[in-house]
Amino acid sequence: MRILAIETSCDETGVAIYQQDNHQGHVLSNHLSSQIAIHARFGGVVPEIASREHDKTLPPMLAEVMRSAALSWSDIDALAVTSGPGLMGALLVGTSFARAMAMVHQLPLMPIHHLEGHILAAGLSDKLPPMPFVALLVSGGHTLLVLVKKIGNYQLLGQTLDDAAGECFDKSARLLGLPYPGGPEIALLAKEGVCGKYRLPRPMLHRDGCDFSFSGLKTAVLHASKKINMHDHQQRCDLAAEIQSAICDVLIKKTMRACTEQGVAHVVLAGGVAANTCLRDGLAKAAAFIGIQSHVPPAHYCTDNAAMIAYAAHCRFSLGESAPAIDTWDANPRQRLIE
Ligand code: KG4
Ligand code: ZN
Repeated sequence: MRILAIETSCDETGVAIYQQDNHQGHVLSNHLSSQIAIHARFGGVVPEIASREHDKTLPPMLAEVMRSAALSWSDIDALAVTSGPGLMGALLVGTSFARAMAMVHQLPLMPIHHLEGHILAAGLSDKLPPMPFVALLVSGGHTLLVLVKKIGNYQLLGQTLDDAAGECFDKSARLLGLPYPGGPEIALLAKEGVCGKYRLPRPMLHRDGCDFSFSGLKTAVLHASKKINMHDHQQRCDLAAEIQSAICDVLIKKTMRACTEQGVAHVVLAGGVAANTCLRDGLAKAAAFIGIQSHVPPAHYCTDNAAMIAYAAHCRFSLGESAPAIDTWDANPRQRLIE
């Protein structure tokens, strides 16, 4: 089965084709066009510009994906598209485009929850771990700990009470005078810095449960950034290292707590922040220490991409689910993963 997927929930346009033959899956083509350079001068994503860029990018990208995989429409068996959550206009561009393709080419179209795509992305580079497993999902808008019981059966174990981890990276970066998106920029400075030179709090660590809170940390970064000399490269690097370490410490410790409480043998790291090396290495080490296996997809499958949407659709089709009729669902910017 070959599935062509479209992802347009935020500021990256993605089109990918995933193929499954017997027990082996392959990503035949996975194209991405980032709008970061366009939004960077505004310090964040401008929704209308994002929609217009998706609209402009999708048709040539689709042609390029078909060309690079040497396929034509008769080789495609199904379509998948991100139906939510995300920016309403951006989602509408992707879902309208996918609906039109489904009608013209008479193909089933599976709407996919963006966060389900992130969680299942671990199955793109390796086999999905046996369920149940715990997934830490950390993106620009979400920070969740989820117990994955089965595909489509998710239990919320913890979530952020305020800012998402990615948002904390992005807002802290702005305080350090770094461009959007801030996560990779902080990571870059942190490489040259020493954590512990400035002390930042590790919020919620000593509270029971698996919820997170990053707004206090953001305020602490604001105070710390006023105390350092912004023209001193080393001081900025040291503060960046402490910010990264504070965010990762909290994420890793709460994830290990969730794994222990649930008694699972596997943990999955997902979402854009999972591209962070300190988080990837730290989580793998902590998991090994308590005797569980960690699954960390390659960075290009952690950040937004359409291959994860195609793979999530494949998982649903392989469970015998059929695609809903195209007029029975809508793009939903606040679509919930867990009802
Ligand atoms: O999942 P994603 O690509 O888009 C959303 O669905 O939100 O996540 C984007 C987030 C941004 O906040 C970005 O700063 C963060 O992921 N991010 C990182 C890194 N790469 C991306 N954060 C820390 N370190 C990174 N290397
Ligand atoms: Zn995402």
